[in-house]
Amino acid sequence: MKLLEDRIIMEGAVLPGNVLKVGSFLNQKIDTKLLRSMAEETARLYEGQGINKIMTVEASGIAFAAAVGMVMDLPVLFAKKHQSSNVDGETLACHAHSYTHNTDYNMVVSRAYLTPSDHVLLVDDFLANGAALNALTELVRMSGASLAGVAVCIEKRFQGGGDALRAKGIRVEALALIESMEDGKIKFAHTI
Ligand code: G4P
Repeated sequence: MKLLEDRIIMEGAVLPGNVLKVGSFLNQKIDTKLLRSMAEETARLYEGQGINKIMTVEASGIAFAAAVGMVMDLPVLFAKKHQSSNVDGETLACHAHSYTHNTDYNMVVSRAYLTPSDHVLLVDDFLANGAALNALTELVRMSGASLAGVAVCIEKRFQGGGDALRAKGIRVEALALIESMEDGKIKFAHTI
């Protein structure tokens, strides 16, 4: 998506450890016009797929998920990263390890909010090593719901998480697909 790619080139900063900083329009200050355009593009990509629920994980995926939910007129569910008093009753939980932050956590969702009749679109802001999205696909599997696919704003393809999901037969769409970030130079794979 050219709009997003242009913005990444203009304002993104490549930090040590292959981390792309996009705090000025996505991760801290949010450009709502760009967010709406990204949500509309996602809705176009997944139109007519019978999706009835958008799902993500806290925290930074929630804004994009809410925008997609609003454009597609669908409810949004987000998994918690820890058991909390807001998650009561029977829960589904999946262990995840973040390579980016070198931390382990449990991804938790109320069983009542994810049911076998759901056809789910998973969304997130970033897809890197894929730990978060792998855990989300596992929660969908455990619930008995079906998976329509994955949509992310930015995929760092060289970290392999997206292609590992594709190899499992899961549809993965990235609005900006980064092939490499060597020497701080961002190279995109294609333009949607
Ligand atoms: P991982 O396996 O390396 O952890 O990668 P994954 O794709 O699962 O993404 C995990 C976390 O790392 C996500 O946020 C994701 O947004 C963030 N992330 C990965 N690469 C980058 C990057 O290059 N730039 C930025 N800005 N974020 C990146 P999280 O740790 O779950 O935290 P939260 O911010 O959503 O709370």
